Amino acid sequence: MKTTYGLILSAFALIISFSSCSSDPLDLVTTVTEGDFTIALPSPPTTNGQMNLTAQFTTQNIFKGKSSKVLGYQSGSILGPTIVVNTGDVMSVNLQNNLTEPTNIHWHGLIVPANMDGHPEDVVQPGASFDYKFKVIQRGGLYWYHPHPDGYTAKQAFMGLAGAVIVRDAEEEKLNLPSGEFEVPLVIQDKRINTDYSLDYTPTMNDVMTGYMGQYITVNGVHAPYKGVKTTTYRFRVLNGSNSRIYNLGFSNGASFKVIGSDGGLLETAEAVSTLLLAPGERADILMDFSSYNIGTELFLMNNSFTGTSTQGKQKFNILKFVVETKITTNFVTPLALSTLDKIAANSASKTRTFRISEMSMSGMSNMGNMGGMTMTGMHQINNKVYDKNRIDEVVAAGSTEIWVFDNSTGAEPHPMHVHGVQFQVLDRTGGRGGLIASEKGWKDTILLLPGEKVRVIMTFNNNKGLFVLHCHNLEHEDDGMMLQFEVQ
Ligand code: C2O
Ligand code: CU
Ligand code: CU
Repeated sequence: MKTTYGLILSAFALIISFSSCSSDPLDLVTTVTEGDFTIALPSPPTTNGQMNLTAQFTTQNIFKGKSSKVLGYQSGSILGPTIVVNTGDVMSVNLQNNLTEPTNIHWHGLIVPANMDGHPEDVVQPGASFDYKFKVIQRGGLYWYHPHPDGYTAKQAFMGLAGAVIVRDAEEEKLNLPSGEFEVPLVIQDKRINTDYSLDYTPTMNDVMTGYMGQYITVNGVHAPYKGVKTTTYRFRVLNGSNSRIYNLGFSNGASFKVIGSDGGLLETAEAVSTLLLAPGERADILMDFSSYNIGTELFLMNNSFTGTSTQGKQKFNILKFVVETKITTNFVTPLALSTLDKIAANSASKTRTFRISEMSMSGMSNMGNMGGMTMTGMHQINNKVYDKNRIDEVVAAGSTEIWVFDNSTGAEPHPMHVHGVQFQVLDRTGGRGGLIASEKGWKDTILLLPGEKVRVIMTFNNNKGLFVLHCHNLEHEDDGMMLQFEVQ
C-alpha cells in the first residue's frame, strides 16, 4: 500500500503520542547543545596509502575529561587516519575486522574496481581481514572512507568508523594554496550519547524517518573545539560525516569565504559566499581569510538556520571556535583560475534514467525487522523499490555517458543522493531552490535534493565492470533500503 507522507506523519504522531509524553519528541533529539569550546581542535594523524586499519571497540575523549566508548579504526581514536596520497599512487590498506559483526570499507568518491568498492554484500566477517588494493586515478580532492555493510552502515559510521582521504595532484600543487598548518581538515559530525558518555546509536522509527541526529556537534572527533589561528588565509577541507544532519555553514560574524572545491576537487573559479549548505557525504574546500582580524578576535564556524525542509534547519548553533592568536604577514592571493573542467555535454548522453525518490511506503511499517541494530522499515524507496541484494536494478554500459535524474518533486524529506563508481556534473536543479550553489559547480558524487526538487546529473562511467550501488546518504534512509544496485557491463 502506498500512501502520502502526511498520512505517514499522522501515523507517526499516533505512535509518538502512545510512546512519549513529550510535546515535540522530534525536537528533543535534534536540538543541538553547544559546549564551551575549550578543547583544542585535534587533527587525525596522516598516513600514506600503505597501512593497516583495525575496526575495533575503543575509547576517545570526545568531551573534555570524559572517555567515550566508540568504534575506531585505530586504538584510542574515533576517526581513522587521514590518508594522503598522490594521483597515480597505489593504495594498499589491510582491514582487520575486530568487531562482532560484518564490516567493510567503501572509498567514497574514489573510482575503484567493483571488488574494492565496499559493496554492501562484499563484507569482511568478524575476525577476518581483507586487503584493499587499487590505483588512485582521481584528481586532487577530499574523499573519505567508511563502512558499507548492508544494514550496518549507519551504526558503524555513527559509532566512529570513518576517515578522510586527501588526494593531491600536480594541477593543485601549482596553485600554492595554503598548506601545512594552514590546511586543516574539518570532519563535522553529530553524536548522541548515553549517561556514561558512550556513543548511543539506538534509532527509533522516528529516527529512521528523519535520519539519526545527535545533540552534540563534533569536529575531528571532539565536541565544541577551538582552534587558534594566525592572520592569514586558511584552507579548510570540510567533510560532512554526519549520518543525516545538513549544515548551513557560515561564520558567526557573517564573513564571506571562498568555495574553491567540491566533492571531486577544484572548481574552475573560486566563489565567495557567506553560507554554504553541506549535506551528509558532501565535501567543501573553502578558503577563509583571517588577515584583517585583530589579535584576540573570536568567531565561530556555525550552522545558520535554513528553510526548505521541516525536519532540519530551524536552529542556529556554533560548531568550532576560532581565536585569532598570532599576527603574521603573508601575501596569499586566491588564484583567479583554479582549474578547467571538461564539461560533459548533455547531448553526449546515450541514456537518461529517472530515480523517483519521493515515494514512501507504509507497508514497510508492518514488516519491521531489525537490521544491524536499527529498525528496518523499508519506508524509504527509490522507484518504488527497497534495496534487494538479489536484484540488479540498472545495467550501464562501461564507458557510456548517461543522464540520471533524481526526482524529489513530490517528496517531503531531504535526500542527499550518492552514486558509487563515478563522479558526475550537475546539469540543473528545478523546483525548490532552483539553481546550483557554489559547491555544485564542479565534480560531485553526492547531491542534495530538498523537498520539491529535481536534479539532473551527467556522468561517464568508468571501465570498472561489476556491481555498484546508488543510495541516499542519509544513512538511516540507506540502511532502511533507500539503495539500488547497478551493474556496469
Ligand atoms: Cu559514502 Cu555508498 O557511501
Ligand atoms: Cu560512495
Ligand atoms: Cu534520504
